[in-house]
Amino acid sequence: PTIRLEDYRPSDHLIDRVDLDVRLAPHETRITAVLALRPNPAGEPGAPLVLDGDDVTLLALDLDGQTLPADAYLATPSGLTLHRPPTRPFTLRIETQVDPTANTKLMGLYRSSGVYCTQCEADGFRRITYFLDRPDVLSVYTTRIEAERAAAPVLLGNGNPVEAGEAGEGRHYAVWHDPHPKPAYLFALVGGRLDKVATRFTTMEGRDVEVAVFVEPGKAPRAAYALDAVLRSMRWDEEAFGRAYDLDVFNVVAVSDFNMGAMENKGLNIFNDKYVLASPETATDQDYANIEAIIAHEYFHNWSGNRVTCRDWFQLCLKEGLTVFRDQEFSSDMRSRAVHRIGEVRTLRARQFPEDAGPLAHPVRPRAYAEINNFYTATVYEKGAEIVRMLRTLVGEAPFRAGMDRYYARNDGRAATVEDFLDAFAAESGRDLTAFAQWYEWPGTPRVDVEGAYDAAARRYSLTLRQSLRGAAPPFVIPVAVGLVGPSGPLAGARCADIRDGVFVLDAAVARLTFTEVSEAPVPSLFRGFSAPVRVEMALSDAERLTLLRHDTDAFNRWQAAQSIAMRLLIDRGTARAPETDDAGPAAQAYAEALAAFLDAEALADPAFAALVLGLPGEGDVANEIGSDIDPDAIHRARQSLRRHLGHALGERLSRLRADLAEAPGTPFSPDAASAGRRTLRNAALDLIAAADPARGAELAAAQIEDASNMTDRLAALGILSLIPGETRETALTAFGERYAAEPLVLDKWFAIQAAIPEDGTLARIARLREHPAFSMTNPNRVRALIGSFGLANPTQFNRVDGAGFGLLAETVEMLDRTNPQIAAKLLTNFGSWRMLEPARSSKAGEILARIKAIPGLSRDVADIVDRTVAGS
Ligand code: ARG
Ligand code: ZN
Repeated sequence: PTIRLEDYRPSDHLIDRVDLDVRLAPHETRITAVLALRPNPAGEPGAPLVLDGDDVTLLALDLDGQTLPADAYLATPSGLTLHRPPTRPFTLRIETQVDPTANTKLMGLYRSSGVYCTQCEADGFRRITYFLDRPDVLSVYTTRIEAERAAAPVLLGNGNPVEAGEAGEGRHYAVWHDPHPKPAYLFALVGGRLDKVATRFTTMEGRDVEVAVFVEPGKAPRAAYALDAVLRSMRWDEEAFGRAYDLDVFNVVAVSDFNMGAMENKGLNIFNDKYVLASPETATDQDYANIEAIIAHEYFHNWSGNRVTCRDWFQLCLKEGLTVFRDQEFSSDMRSRAVHRIGEVRTLRARQFPEDAGPLAHPVRPRAYAEINNFYTATVYEKGAEIVRMLRTLVGEAPFRAGMDRYYARNDGRAATVEDFLDAFAAESGRDLTAFAQWYEWPGTPRVDVEGAYDAAARRYSLTLRQSLRGAAPPFVIPVAVGLVGPSGPLAGARCADIRDGVFVLDAAVARLTFTEVSEAPVPSLFRGFSAPVRVEMALSDAERLTLLRHDTDAFNRWQAAQSIAMRLLIDRGTARAPETDDAGPAAQAYAEALAAFLDAEALADPAFAALVLGLPGEGDVANEIGSDIDPDAIHRARQSLRRHLGHALGERLSRLRADLAEAPGTPFSPDAASAGRRTLRNAALDLIAAADPARGAELAAAQIEDASNMTDRLAALGILSLIPGETRETALTAFGERYAAEPLVLDKWFAIQAAIPEDGTLARIARLREHPAFSMTNPNRVRALIGSFGLANPTQFNRVDGAGFGLLAETVEMLDRTNPQIAAKLLTNFGSWRMLEPARSSKAGEILARIKAIPGLSRDVADIVDRTVAGS
């Protein structure tokens, strides 16, 4: 059944207070819920009470202490209806039973490696008890958790701890009270044997908070970085947004079976342990950065999501887009802003642009859904964050901050909408944001075509900008951060009346900008910092792009200039009809020379940035840019040949860089951005050395695997070696697997590297790895590492012309759908770009999708994705 935004109505009933008593047991967990209900003045008087349920068994029910006659209600596993509820406030006492051990969907209450935990967003609470499981019903919760002490010495709930004690027969209990009204999706509890690392934080309001991270026994040393990231997040939200924490404890728990990254339950964030656990021996620099970002993200939800929540799930971007924007800003403040911004845009282009161009495209605020869990997408999260960023660019820094304060003040303790959000900024800035709101409503990536003309005699330069979007969308409001660059730097005298604080606001289909006092032919630097999530088309020459790489003041566009040149080279060679040649040609040579000069001048000053400039667009990026009739093999060959060319052209410079960036022996590991940047560039150099001379590359990589003092360098070397067939590679892979046999999160990296090997033998390799003792189809991280990486990071093998790659994904989707439909559906989204493929591959994909569609008894999750993937264009 499709749910539509336009059908929203307030609930007919409200639940003011919830008293839960949860008696944990491996198979027969009993939950008593006492709900203080009343008719909603905004609802329909006398309406039946319809509570949601999903796979729950009703044990007992009474209303104000009276047992209900059988004809007064209807209870099924999927709902509980009271036909004629009282029209005054009343109390319902509901006793249900669930089986956490059998809960392989990992929604509701489940066990992960023996630890009881919950995941209630979006609609998991109804798998615990019957409830008004919708985000606009906010209640104050008190939760008593009881369990066998030996199995679950730690019992955690939302809010503050109230009391704890013995419950007899080896059992104990803890009571938690959360004073902040919240929707059911923010409910959580945890029970298990866990180690704790804790510290204290005093908020700017003077509240003394105990902050703790709970992890599997023995892993406490690996929780230190996450704990520190919580403290930095708390401080940052106070300084950047004036938001303080509002409970006496803040708990983070790491579990090893988790469908997503993490969850912002009030006062009790539950994490995929991959985003908590870190040590130099087991985590890469990227892992550290992810942990920092996700810890911050979940913490920031305490305000953007929890204190102000969403009226309905169509408003998901209200909390997710905003919170991603907030965590991006945090990471930018903790690290290099320019480098972080480039990373954000790379992710957006790699994940969101293709989504927005394919059959699963949807507005940032969708208007309809069959299964809400399929809308936790790159569009809602990353494009949603870009909208908030554009809003800040449009209204300006100070009004933006004031708008945020106003939004929180007006909506605290409420379930809000995108309109409530925009209203706050309209009020603070005096700007009409009606047209800007289009960004939430239309799917697709707008395209902006730009033409420039220089009139030397008049010292005038004009830019014509034309926006378009497939479909009949009205013009978008697009902030264009723009400046002019001359042959040796910014053009000092140039003026343009339509540009304010470096930004032109494009709000018509076509607009022309005129710059005066332009002393020489300029190169425009457009969409600085990627000021809007659009595709920009402008016919600049490579020479003009190299001017930007050399002289632009905007780091993002310097990087973009190099990327655009590389992209053009890759597209020219990577189309199905392009001749297969290793002849570099003058354009590739000029590109390599420019990179050489850039490295000589700047590599050591900012290695992280240099590594980005040196990096070629990925095969997926090239495919997305070509857009149709994709031959992944041709793209792969083109990229390999350009890598090889760069490796040769940069020559000894690469080895010198490796030597210059080498760490003095005995230097203790630090995950800070500068140290990480040196490692990244050093490994990027190794990658190009290996491309030019595989034998030497294999030798160097094997040595680095042996000698590395941290996982970043070891894994980078293994990744490079994995692309060079031969004994050395196989020996190294085997040794790595044995060395980390007891480290599932490290083995995930090992699974992922092998799944991405662009060779025919990879399917057989994956079949073997599926039998590996550490692999498990019921652990989402393992499945994502082995099968997800294959779909995501191995374009030539996933898109094999014989259809065997599609077959592997399809087979996994079918199997997983019986145990964990959410993960199955996510895997299936790998087919999202199937219509872009050349005809032979695309028809194979079509056949396999049709086969999936025909499977009887598909979950709603998978049925929804397959239906849309097949139907859309
Ligand atoms: N709110 C979580 C986050 O972004 C994501 C949880 C999504 N879970 C789900 N089952 N769809 O931080
Ligand atoms: Zn989130």
